Amino acid sequence: MQVLSVTPEIFPLIKTGGLADVTGALPIALAGKGVTMRTLVPGYPQVMDAFKKKKPVHQYPLLQGGKASVHAVQIAGLDLFVLDAQHLFDRPGGPYGNATGADWPDNWRRFAALSQVGGDIAGGAISGYQPDIVHAHDWQSAMTLAYMRFGKAVGTPSMITVHNLAFQGQFGAGIFGELGLPAAAMALDGVEYYGGVGFLKAGLQAAWAITTVSPTYAQEIRSPEFGMGLDGLVNMRSVDLYGIVNGIDTEIWNPETDKHLVSNYTAKTLKARHSNRTAVEDRFNLDRDDSPIVCVISRLTWQKGMDILAAAVDGIVARGARLAILGSGDAGLEGALLAAAARHRGRIGVVVGYDEALSHTMQGGCDAIVIPSRFEPCGLTQLYGLRYGCVPVVARTGGLADTLIDANEAAVSAGVATGFQFAPADAGALLHAIRRLVEAHANPTIWTSMQRQGMKADVSWDKSAEKYLELYRLLLSKRAV
Ligand code: ADP
Ligand code: GLC
Repeated sequence: MQVLSVTPEIFPLIKTGGLADVTGALPIALAGKGVTMRTLVPGYPQVMDAFKKKKPVHQYPLLQGGKASVHAVQIAGLDLFVLDAQHLFDRPGGPYGNATGADWPDNWRRFAALSQVGGDIAGGAISGYQPDIVHAHDWQSAMTLAYMRFGKAVGTPSMITVHNLAFQGQFGAGIFGELGLPAAAMALDGVEYYGGVGFLKAGLQAAWAITTVSPTYAQEIRSPEFGMGLDGLVNMRSVDLYGIVNGIDTEIWNPETDKHLVSNYTAKTLKARHSNRTAVEDRFNLDRDDSPIVCVISRLTWQKGMDILAAAVDGIVARGARLAILGSGDAGLEGALLAAAARHRGRIGVVVGYDEALSHTMQGGCDAIVIPSRFEPCGLTQLYGLRYGCVPVVARTGGLADTLIDANEAAVSAGVATGFQFAPADAGALLHAIRRLVEAHANPTIWTSMQRQGMKADVSWDKSAEKYLELYRLLLSKRAV
């Protein structure tokens, strides 16, 4: 089976969040199941620098204002189609904005171009390559499905995975004329959204199947509270809506072999975590003692509940835990957390920035990871935490609700608990969970059992890749009808 994946991010080439981890890991997980997944990605500098250009497999004299070409390459074990369009993607900074984080004003054009190329490939633009299924991710590639539906590939099954409904790609009606879609597409059941153009909306409308990254989030987005204005459409399409929880790459995230750890370990040698813990204490200027170190590895945003954390820090310290925070994002939240670190020297340490290596060391050395998200489609850091014996403390929402077993009394006595869940997402409930954590940590039998249970949990892609495969097969059977 040939599947074309279209995505704005892919690990290890370009990553701003979990989306990249997922699109980078899924092709590898599916390869073992007879699926060949090729991935179309924008030719950002980070991607173009990773290969030598040869003859392109497709060329555009003019694509959204400039010349473009598509290169078929293999990088880091991934089969890629790279869209080389310098006028759109050859820019410093991140995939969506400049170095200061401001979005590029022509993002609609950049991702319409990516999607148009996705639609063209689906329609047979590359000789010798015909995908059986097209799988798009988030708003940046959602329009692929509209280009398919209103173009040549209307008969090719398509799927969109929603990693975060909060980001929708909504633009003014004025751009429609430049999208190259037929006039009929500017309709309520097409790309039109509240008088403008909605990229994610268009994808949700056109997709043969919609998936999101956990069963709980799939339910949640049917409600106004989590639906972000799209709950009506999501409900309308609920027969075709599925929730498939993310896995993680268990080779990259393996405490037994992880090169970023000072000391490797297994569930049987948990004491070896100690030197990683010391490395965290040094890096975050924390006192050396036996109290639990709770870490945060996160975008610093409202979604992630970082304001809730900021409101709870004094209480967390008062309850005897230390905090190691790695993150970047909202300047106000960065400031609040840095101020907390200044108030509580030795008890709270903050590193502002994005540091993949440090994130591994933290999972391997901290005792717990806290994720107080207001909503969380899946969340990956709790899965890394489980695998590393870094016990997750999470708000009970989305994928955080689906991926761990709360340490309630029944679960603890049955020896199956793997973390702590709290609700609602507020400072009071978070502090209550921290108190439970500190108590559990003080009991080595309970604590070690929780760590080991977490490390036993199957967080690999195996089961979820199987679910994607089942869904691909279902869509293929619909095509045959
Ligand atoms: P989201 O994609 O919403 O940000 P996820 O939990 O799905 O949330 O994925 C976040 C990914 O980004 C994880 O791989 C996490 O380790 C990583 N990450 C987030 N912030 C940082 C940071 N400051 N430094 C290093 N890695 C980070
Ligand atoms: C999004 C979500 C996160 C999810 C990730 C990968 O960034 O916010 O919850 O884990 O996508 O699916």
